[in-house]
Amino acid sequence: MNLEDILTEARRDFAAVDTLPALEQAKARFLGKSGAITEQMKGLGKLDPEQRKEAGARINQAKDGVEALLKARREAIQAEELNRQLAAESLDVTLPGRGAGLGGAHPVSLTLKRIESLFASIGFAVADGPEIETDFYNFTALNIPDNHPARAMHDTFYLGDGSLLRTHTSPVQVRYMEHQKPPIKIIAPGRVYRVDSDATHSPMFHQVEGLWVDRDISFAHLKGVVQDFLQRFFERDDLTVRFRPSFFPFTEPSAEMDMSWNGGWLEIGGCGMVHPNVLGHVGIDAEAWQGFAFGLGVERLAMLRYGVNDLRLFFENDMRFLKQFA
Ligand code: FA5
Repeated sequence: MNLEDILTEARRDFAAVDTLPALEQAKARFLGKSGAITEQMKGLGKLDPEQRKEAGARINQAKDGVEALLKARREAIQAEELNRQLAAESLDVTLPGRGAGLGGAHPVSLTLKRIESLFASIGFAVADGPEIETDFYNFTALNIPDNHPARAMHDTFYLGDGSLLRTHTSPVQVRYMEHQKPPIKIIAPGRVYRVDSDATHSPMFHQVEGLWVDRDISFAHLKGVVQDFLQRFFERDDLTVRFRPSFFPFTEPSAEMDMSWNGGWLEIGGCGMVHPNVLGHVGIDAEAWQGFAFGLGVERLAMLRYGVNDLRLFFENDMRFLKQFA
């Protein structure tokens, strides 16, 4: 094939393809190992030196010509591909936007807010305390001395340096009374931790502590406050509360609180009259002042209010679950 024909053929072949891989294949027919130009180069060896120089120059010229054709076609194909892509992915800027997804408060937060506002309406202030506690505040100051069997009732996470994750919100009672003299009327909502996990127990959960210390506070006040709170929380005037005798080292007498639910009773927390030893620890004269305290399980109240039967759902962060409360 003479060089003229090679160029004509290259022009025709390159024009016939319209993808880059096909163009590469066409290129091989001219510039590849046994391509037409390469074959011409191989033939140079047979010529005498004078002819070889001249023929070599002509072949190189033809090679440059093929390469120029190739480059032009490659650029044309790339431009066509870009145009095709732009046409396929065209963006309609006049379409309305998707809008930002609106989040919502977590059901446990909603429950805590509701509890706080109901207690605020009857004069309870909100107090808080640290989640990392000392043995002293979590146990000793609450009349649970070393080696007391009640310590074993709390499956405690110890942190190794003598501190622990509080197992209940009751230590806030002690911290608050250390600095505030009666009358005292607070709730202390917050996270607590226990080595505990099943459908109704979570290793981290929330409690709301209640504490009312004043002159002449009696168990009747406790019953009234708790019953009134639960009736308003669940919006049910017929709801009744049962106080079942129980034991907590920091209250005397002590009771477990059950509320009527679907024809039966459900435990929602513990309570009692603040033990004189606890008042004594913080320098409050137990002859002059009395108080009651209670501790409610917040997830327990949220489960009942929202009809959730597994407490772990609150902590799995499944959007399908959480969206129902937004
Ligand atoms: C206490 O923690 C006492 N501090 C309550 C108290 C306060 C008594 C003040 C007297 C005076 P108890 O261990 O029973 O008590 O826990 C109270 C409530 O927390 C339980 O009724 C339950 O509703 C909830 N609770 C306990 N353990 C878990 C858990 N692992 N997961 C979720 N809720 C829990």
